Amino acid sequence: MPISVKNWTYEDVIVAPSLLAADFGRVAEETSRAINAGGDWMHLDIMDGNFVDNISFGPAMVETVHATNDVFLDVHLMIKRPNHYLSRFVAAGADMITVHIEPEADHEVGATLAAIRAQGVQAGLALNPATPFSAVEPYLAQIDMLLCMTVVPGFGGQAFMPEIMEKVAQAATLRQEKGLAYHIEVDGGVDAETGAVCREAGANVLVAGSSTFRAPDMAVAVAAVRG
Ligand code: DX5
Ligand code: ZN
Repeated sequence: MPISVKNWTYEDVIVAPSLLAADFGRVAEETSRAINAGGDWMHLDIMDGNFVDNISFGPAMVETVHATNDVFLDVHLMIKRPNHYLSRFVAAGADMITVHIEPEADHEVGATLAAIRAQGVQAGLALNPATPFSAVEPYLAQIDMLLCMTVVPGFGGQAFMPEIMEKVAQAATLRQEKGLAYHIEVDGGVDAETGAVCREAGANVLVAGSSTFRAPDMAVAVAAVRG
C-alpha cells in the first residue's frame, strides 16, 4: 500500500524531515534521501512573506515532491490567506494541511478546517509560541493534528523553546479527557535531545529540518530524533 495512504495514529512516533533545510536544487533526490533515512512524513513549509517574514515555496514544490516520491505530505501553511490557496495545495497532493490560528492568518478557522476535510485531506491547526493554548481549544474536535510551534515561524535552524512543552502536555491531557484522536506535532529546533523532551511531554510528530538534512549521517539523525 502506498505510504501516503497508511493510517497513521497518534500512537505512532512520526519523524517529519522539513524540506526547508534541504538542497532546493535537488528536491526529488533530497526527499528520497529523507525517506531512505527513515523519515515518515515530509514537512513542507509554505511561507508567503506576509504571515511570516520569509518566502519559501508554493504548490508547485508540493507537486514536485508528490510526483517524485511516495510519501505523506505534511503541508504547513504559514500564509495570510490559507483558504484562498487551499484547493491548489490539495490538487498538488497534500495529505495534511495545517493552518495557523493567529488573526494575522486572515481566515475563519472553523470554516477552513472543515473545507480541508471536505476535500479529503487531514486538517491541522498551528499555534505560535506567543499564542495561548486557549486560542485553539474550541477547535480540538475539528482537527487531525495540533502543531505547537517550538520556534517563532519563518526560519529553520532556530533554538528550541522548552516552555512550549506545557502546551504539548495540555493538548495530550485534553485529548484523553475528551476522547479525541489528533496528532500532536512540534516544529522548530527539534533534534535528538529536544526530540526526547517533546516525546516525553506527549508529542508524536517531530518535525526536524537542520538536525536531519544537515547531519553527517541522516539515518542516524532521524533515528536519534525518533528515540
Ligand atoms: C519554521 C518552520 C520549521 C522549520 C524547522 O518556520 O515551520 O518547519 O523548517 O526547521 P529546524 O528543524 O531547522 O528548526
Ligand atoms: Zn513547519
